[in-house]
Amino acid sequence: MWAEIDLCSEDLKSKRFFFCVGDWCDWGWTMRKATWGLLLLLTCAATCDQSGQNQDGEQKGPSRRGHVSVVVVGSTGDLAKKYLWQGFFNLYASQVGKGYSFSFYGGGLSPDGRGTPLLFEILKSQDCPVDVSDERCALVREQFLRLAQYRQLKTEEDYQALGQHIETQLKQEGMVEAGRLFYLSVPAFAYADIAQRVNRSCRPPGTAWLRVVLEKPFGHDSNSAQELATQLASSLKEDEMFRIDHYLGKQVVSQILPFRKGNRKLLKSIWNKHHIDRMEIVLKETLDAKGRISFYDQYGVIRDVIQNHLTEVMTLLTMSVPKNLTDCKEINRNKLKVFSALHQLDMPSAVLGQYQTYNSEVQLELNKTKDHFSLSPTYAGIAVHTTMPQFDGVPIFLVSGKLLDERVGYARITFKNNVFCAQDQTSITCRPKQIVFYIGQGQLQYPAILVSKNLFKPALVNNGWKEVIENDDTLLFGIPLSDYYIQTPVVQQEAYTELISQVFRGRRDHFVSAESLLASWKFWTPLLNSLKHTFPRPYPGGAANGNLLDFQLQGREVRFCSEALVNMIPQEKTESFQVMQGKYRSADMVSAWSKELVERLAHDLQEAAEESVQEGTPFHLALSGGSSPLALFKQLTQHHYAFPWWNTHVWMADERCVPPNEAESNFRTIHDHLLQHVHLPYFNIHPMPVQLNQRLCVEEDGGALVYEQDIARLVNSSSFSYVLLGVGFDGHTASLFPGNRLGSSGERLVALTESPLKPHQRMSLTFGAINRARRVSVLIMGKGKHELVTQLSRIKDTPDRWPITKIQPVNGRLVWYIDYDALLGQ
Ligand SMILES: *[C@@H]1O[C@H](CO)[C@@H](O)[C@H](O)[C@H]1NC(C)=O
Ligand SMILES: *[C@@H]1O[C@H](CO)[C@@H](O)[C@H](O)[C@H]1NC(C)=O
Ligand SMILES: *[C@@H]1O[C@H](CO)[C@@H](O)[C@H](O)[C@H]1NC(C)=O
Ligand SMILES: *[C@@H]1O[C@H](CO)[C@@H](O)[C@H](O)[C@H]1NC(C)=O
Repeated sequence: MWAEIDLCSEDLKSKRFFFCVGDWCDWGWTMRKATWGLLLLLTCAATCDQSGQNQDGEQKGPSRRGHVSVVVVGSTGDLAKKYLWQGFFNLYASQVGKGYSFSFYGGGLSPDGRGTPLLFEILKSQDCPVDVSDERCALVREQFLRLAQYRQLKTEEDYQALGQHIETQLKQEGMVEAGRLFYLSVPAFAYADIAQRVNRSCRPPGTAWLRVVLEKPFGHDSNSAQELATQLASSLKEDEMFRIDHYLGKQVVSQILPFRKGNRKLLKSIWNKHHIDRMEIVLKETLDAKGRISFYDQYGVIRDVIQNHLTEVMTLLTMSVPKNLTDCKEINRNKLKVFSALHQLDMPSAVLGQYQTYNSEVQLELNKTKDHFSLSPTYAGIAVHTTMPQFDGVPIFLVSGKLLDERVGYARITFKNNVFCAQDQTSITCRPKQIVFYIGQGQLQYPAILVSKNLFKPALVNNGWKEVIENDDTLLFGIPLSDYYIQTPVVQQEAYTELISQVFRGRRDHFVSAESLLASWKFWTPLLNSLKHTFPRPYPGGAANGNLLDFQLQGREVRFCSEALVNMIPQEKTESFQVMQGKYRSADMVSAWSKELVERLAHDLQEAAEESVQEGTPFHLALSGGSSPLALFKQLTQHHYAFPWWNTHVWMADERCVPPNEAESNFRTIHDHLLQHVHLPYFNIHPMPVQLNQRLCVEEDGGALVYEQDIARLVNSSSFSYVLLGVGFDGHTASLFPGNRLGSSGERLVALTESPLKPHQRMSLTFGAINRARRVSVLIMGKGKHELVTQLSRIKDTPDRWPITKIQPVNGRLVWYIDYDALLGQ
């Protein structure tokens, strides 16, 4: 035995990385006298024998898998200290004897003299992996330390030197290279430069892989994320980049899809809007942002954890389960579908809070004066909705905050209970039904998946998991643990350990693709922009928050349940009330701040529709295009559930000559913002026929006539119940522009017209058609329209230049809805 080991000991000395997978051989040496050393030696000898026969580097057996160089840039920072080196140590321990050899480079800005002791201090203190005995761990650690070195990585030359070092070493030791793993644990602004240097100086030759791991933040909005993505793409290929969201490495999070797949038969019938009451994705922290303010204040809670961690969990809960759980392309496709189906968020989709001492921390850490006020939220509650038919109408709450009552992360799906218990209300069938993905911390103290016993008994889909038979009466969400089936991982594993192991194995399914990253930013950016000037509600922190941060859903909007105790929010527009009535151009006018104005208009519209219902006649509503009615549509779809849509016909006041599915199409706008969200019979929808015979608005195709005939056929006396109009800066309304030759009465109801703006061709109701209506409303909003409103109030005798002034219903009523901004120009 000794002879055998001695035979290859020469090789072992010089090629310890190469032969015998290095590690095992070295163990053999160091542990000659160890009681269990024999086994190692045997293994070593066997391995040596194999590789020893092949001095030209063409190894057989496990050692042929090659050499891996790991480079941690930012290797002595907080993250590296707390998680990354532990992850690499665990990786190393798990790979010992499996055919790879390693070297580890800790990179940093400090010169070697200063960095080396710092690095080794950290490396020495790594914990033993749970499944490794102390004895063995001591060996692995010793070996790990020998394979590690510190390198200053500051300049281009430093990276060149590193690249050369790796190559020289490989050559000297006759090693085959498997790949290089760079972990960038540095601020995001440094990514692009480092990626460029890695590409220039450290890219491995031949078939060896290059993997570069990046951490959030990947930008702070849509544009910056896109910019960063473009910069990185010039240095690294998409499949070389591993964007970490460490939440995806949490055991419970990475189990969501396997759980859904493994229990699909049971979930199939209940994973939908008919059964799910709501989803809650929550990450609560008890700590504040002290010490991190210079980072945190630029981001705030939405960018810090909601745009990434909670959004990822949301996609895992709502995406369709991929056929192949490790196929990252399919996962990516399914995630993108989730993003494309989300309702856009804006200001009323969120409530914001800020713990009370935050601002003084900002002043202190950012060196600001006492009058500096930060608007960064440290708490946010957001209601997300999707148009996916499966979940349409199911609210998804995303909530996170600092200085809350407990530290916990979970995703909870509560189900509607459709059972009626005649007598025993406490019987199990009557209790709440839920599935909880308990991600970590909190009351349970262990990660787990819980399913109410009155739902179903979930299968154990992964042999790394076990059932928990819990006897105590701990309450979770008010329900004793004994009411749940509980699963938990057999061994608890840090997220970083899991993810580092996946990078090493080249598995990408738990990483964030560029596409889904950009989709996520595209989804969050409009909300972030709309909240830019919103004052967050101050909260004291911890238990003292009481119910202060509770919020409730109204339609798709949220608001705090209680009035704030300390109201620091300067109310911009608190002018007493609210809706004013008067006369404008000798017709009725309603005026208010835009929000109240839209509420009033929606209310009036519904009243008019209900009148028609009472008369037993259909409500014929003609809508114009443009952006002004969008707020009205939103109000109608989110607050007017009793609107008699089934009795309503939707007509168009005008249309642009473009195909109906194009963004410029008025019908498309009305479809996306109104029709899509309400239930009215399809045959009550009347788009203008601008596209006939595969061409757009050609006179001889007679589109205008077709529409006119439809009106005459369906609308009694061709008199619409309600026409809603806006006004352009040039005084046009519908698509009736200044200088149009159409008279204000006349026989025609519909005509082709010309716009000075693109697309020039239009189809429009005529003055004649509009003036027959029973009711016409003109909606004007925004400061930009103030000049116009002033001008219109004076014009008397040049109606051809101001088409809107030709709107004079013959038997109907005209009402102007003008908001204060447009009316007063403030
Ligand atoms: C990497 O650098 C080379 C030149 O050094 C360049 O041709 C290439 O486009 C860069 N990017 C990628 C992704 O390879
Ligand atoms: C699943 O996808 C992975 C990665 O694309 C692939 O390697 C594997 O063969 C696939 N499995 C099946 C059963 O298709
Ligand atoms: C804080 O401001 C003071 C006075 O303006 C200045 O002397 C000091 O260097 C600043 N400190 C930091 C950390 O910016
Ligand atoms: C149709 O309209 C006329 C007046 O325009 C009205 O007298 C008549 O009652 C209406 N018919 C129905 C069925 O509503």
